[in-house]
Amino acid sequence: MKIEYIPLQVHGDERGSLIALEETKNIPFNIKRIYYMFNTQQGIRRGFHAHKELIQVAISVKGSCKFLLDDGIDKVNITLDDPALGVLINPMVWHEMYEYSEDCVLMVIASDSYDESDYIRNYEDFIKLV
Ligand code: TYD
Repeated sequence: MKIEYIPLQVHGDERGSLIALEETKNIPFNIKRIYYMFNTQQGIRRGFHAHKELIQVAISVKGSCKFLLDDGIDKVNITLDDPALGVLINPMVWHEMYEYSEDCVLMVIASDSYDESDYIRNYEDFIKLV
């Protein structure tokens, strides 16, 4: 499957770095929700779901973690370790996150509110639907 990365412009000067996220500009949808994962324990794997409609962009703003992305045909593993690079998680892409560094802060920008009915949490159901 094709991985869609979103390079984010860094506004840097002698004081440090700044990245701005703006809906419909570098984030390709209207932003409805932002959440972030931190203090993730060693050896933890999370995610294990796909969304029916939700579009998300994940950014490791600190540290690193890995993603398994699976569109039901291909599985791709990627490392996110750059605060200036987002990855798009389209609907109907099964994803799992793992190997979080101790300092990892994984931020996710989402196109809609939290809605449990948009989740597909069973892999066999996911494969039937794709
Ligand atoms: P969960 O779906 O288990 O996280 P993941 O799939 O990434 O491993 O979510 C953990 C808890 O947080 C669960 O009780 C639902 C809640 N939650 C919200 O309330 N709002 C949100 O936006 C998200 C993503 C989760």
